[in-house]
Amino acid sequence: MDYQLLQIVALMTVIAFGGHMRKTTEACSSHDLEGLIGFKNGIQVDTSGRLAKWVGKSCCEWEGIVCENATTRVTQIHLPGFIDKDMFQTQMVGQLSPSITLLTSLEILDLGGLVGLSGTIPQTLGLQLPNLQKLYLYGNNLTGPVPESIGDLPNLEELALHQNRISGSIPSSLGSLKNLRSLLLYSNQISGTIPLSLGNLTNLIELDAHDNALMGHIPNSIDQMQALEKLDLSSNLLSGEIPSSLTNLTAISVLYMDTNILEGTIPFPSRSGEMASLSFLRLHSNHLNGNIPSSFGYLVSLQRASLSNNKLEGALPSSLGNLLSLSEFYLSGNSFSGQIPKSIGQLSHLIMLNISNNLIEGPLPQEMSSLKNLQTLDLSFNPLNLSAIPTWLTNLSSLSRIYIAGCGIQGQIPNILQRTESPIQELDLSGNLLSGTIPSWIGSLSQLYLLNLSRNSLDSNIPDSVTNLSDLAVLDLHSNKLTGSVTGAFGPEQGTSGGSLTYIDLSDNNFSSGVEAIGVGGQVNIQYLNLSHNLLKGTLPSSLGKLNSIHSLDLSFNGLASNLPEVLTKLTLLERLKLQRNHFSGNIPNGFLKLRKLKELDLSNNVLEGEIPEGKPLTDFPGSSYSGNKGLCGKPLSPCKL
Ligand SMILES: *[C@@H]1O[C@H](CO)[C@@H](O)[C@H](O)[C@H]1NC(C)=O
Ligand SMILES: *[C@@H]1O[C@H](CO)[C@@H](O)[C@H](O)[C@H]1NC(C)=O
Ligand SMILES: *[C@@H]1O[C@H](CO)[C@@H](O)[C@H](O)[C@H]1NC(C)=O
Ligand SMILES: *[C@@H]1O[C@H](CO)[C@@H](O)[C@H](O)[C@H]1NC(C)=O
Ligand SMILES: *[C@@H]1O[C@H](CO)[C@@H](O)[C@H](O)[C@H]1NC(C)=O
Ligand SMILES: *[C@@H]1O[C@H](CO)[C@@H](O)[C@H](O)[C@H]1NC(C)=O
Ligand SMILES: *[C@@H]1O[C@H](CO)[C@@H](O)[C@H](O)[C@H]1NC(C)=O
Ligand SMILES: *[C@@H]1O[C@H](CO)[C@@H](O)[C@H](O)[C@H]1NC(C)=O
Ligand SMILES: *[C@@H]1O[C@H](CO)[C@@H](O)[C@H](O)[C@H]1NC(C)=O
Ligand SMILES: *[C@@H]1O[C@H](CO)[C@@H](O)[C@H](O)[C@H]1NC(C)=O
Repeated sequence: MDYQLLQIVALMTVIAFGGHMRKTTEACSSHDLEGLIGFKNGIQVDTSGRLAKWVGKSCCEWEGIVCENATTRVTQIHLPGFIDKDMFQTQMVGQLSPSITLLTSLEILDLGGLVGLSGTIPQTLGLQLPNLQKLYLYGNNLTGPVPESIGDLPNLEELALHQNRISGSIPSSLGSLKNLRSLLLYSNQISGTIPLSLGNLTNLIELDAHDNALMGHIPNSIDQMQALEKLDLSSNLLSGEIPSSLTNLTAISVLYMDTNILEGTIPFPSRSGEMASLSFLRLHSNHLNGNIPSSFGYLVSLQRASLSNNKLEGALPSSLGNLLSLSEFYLSGNSFSGQIPKSIGQLSHLIMLNISNNLIEGPLPQEMSSLKNLQTLDLSFNPLNLSAIPTWLTNLSSLSRIYIAGCGIQGQIPNILQRTESPIQELDLSGNLLSGTIPSWIGSLSQLYLLNLSRNSLDSNIPDSVTNLSDLAVLDLHSNKLTGSVTGAFGPEQGTSGGSLTYIDLSDNNFSSGVEAIGVGGQVNIQYLNLSHNLLKGTLPSSLGKLNSIHSLDLSFNGLASNLPEVLTKLTLLERLKLQRNHFSGNIPNGFLKLRKLKELDLSNNVLEGEIPEGKPLTDFPGSSYSGNKGLCGKPLSPCKL
């Protein structure tokens, strides 16, 4: 083919494939090229291999780069750490180069989720990238402040800088971002106060539209005007009060400010109609005080709200009954007092209600019995003085997770729990005044996953029927007066299924036998086992070696007497091993040196003797881990006599 023919073919290709193809041979804007090469040079490692293919000058054709069709200007950079099609996490290790600011036509910059990307956000970014609409630098390793200049980006719609190590304060200039819909700064180290100006991130025209006099003057551009819908400032070091200006965020749907050190009162909404779209509100884990304002009932779109772990107080306003969309409500860890308002019965969508650790008094309103969708109820640790479990509780047709710890319930474990409409999955009646037996019908709660009856005065043995609870994972019966054998907790002998129990606490009771069942019964997936402070006798069985998931084993304060069995050294995930105050004798097996994860060891007050095997982790523990034995010697105790 001669040269002319080639040209014709090339021309026809352009015609056939449209303008886009023309760029294959064209160099992109030299500024953009320089900017991209500068970015590439900042990265030492790119496990995705995308940057390695960035060669030549046609940067519009490079992977992750989009140019405007008609020109050679780069408008979009898409190099996220997660490559969506297979959710494949890639790594870029290096520094974010300031040369990124040379790409002055950028509209979208997406470098999200590159956990090894360090450096700072270029201070002048807001001045040099005036067309930026979306800035995604989340999930990196960026330090330094949010540049003040970001407030100069008139078209910015989404700013996602979450999950970095960004410090400094929130620039008040962000309040000028009239098109901002989403501002995500969570999980950083941002301090200072929340700027009042964030209350300006609202569509003022829409606000004014309530005023009939202005109706005729609404500009055509109304649907281009944006307003903040999502604001997430959680998990930072923000202090001071929540600015009342936020009440003006007309379009806000998601507002998260939890896990900071915010104080003062909940300032919004000030009247009906404000924040009318707010659906998800998180203010938990701050230092907020004062009451829940009665105006809170105007937040009629609220679906999930968490106010837990603050210093809020006073009565729960009956206006809460207006929150008809509410499905999850978290109020625990405050100082709320008074009674639960009757209006709560109107919350027919409520799925989760957590009022634990407050100063709420009884009686509970009968109206609660109409919460037909309630699945989880946590009333624990309130001075409710219930005396008995309210009978209507069993009429709640969806209730399956019941937490009524420390509420003054007396007498026997009530039989009515046998006949709940919905199968009980979690039952916590700990810290009450229950006495008598653990009823054998417990074994018929076939979906039971968690049973916490600790800190009562139960004085029976563990009924055999417990071994029928095939989903039981957490069994906490500590600090009762239970007697007999612990065998019931370890299940009947089973095949290889392994059992579902991962957490067993039978400590501080009067159990006297059954140690030999550990590992013999089906339960061998146990991670936490505490049998301390009982009257257990006998020797540790070699089947103990089957508990190869165990992290924490406490058999202290019993009457166990044997050598320390060699099988213990198979439990290589052990982090805590407490065998003090028993009658264990003989040497510490050398195999203990294999317990490399051990962080806590107590073998004191037994009748052990001989040399402590030398090496980590054993020699790192204090002398008190070994004291009070018959004749242990060597590090950390005094050297053995020859
Ligand atoms: C660029 O091309 C895309 C897809 O071909 C098209 O939708 C868009 O309108 C074009 N933009 C301009 C500015 O020509
Ligand atoms: C983040 O940067 C720090 C140093 O600034 C470094 O120690 C750390 O390993 C980095 N984290 C990741 C995930 O690369
Ligand atoms: C909300 O916006 C209006 C109109 O701009 C303003 O007058 C008012 O002071 C603002 N409210 C708060 C609490 O900042
Ligand atoms: C209730 O909230 C407290 C504190 O936030 C938490 O510890 C507890 O697990 C919650 N209860 C339930 C049933 O989730
Ligand atoms: C709780 O009930 C007991 C008797 O059941 C009573 O003596 C006590 O005064 C009550 N406490 C409160 C705060 O009502
Ligand atoms: C609970 O349900 C039973 C039977 O369905 C009914 O007899 C009883 O009145 C109900 N109790 C309450 C408090 O709703
Ligand atoms: C059982 O309840 C007590 C509080 O009464 C709590 O301290 C303990 O952690 C709970 N057990 C489990 C396994 O959650
Ligand atoms: C366990 O369940 C089976 C079948 O429902 C029943 O026959 C058996 O008696 C139960 N065992 C105990 C100890 O309750
Ligand atoms: C538990 O055992 C201790 C010590 O043997 C004994 O004093 C106490 O009476 C026992 N308690 C019960 C409830 O059996
Ligand atoms: C085991 O239970 C006792 C008494 O309830 C408690 O003091 C101890 O801290 C527990 N051990 C572990 C390892 O949690």
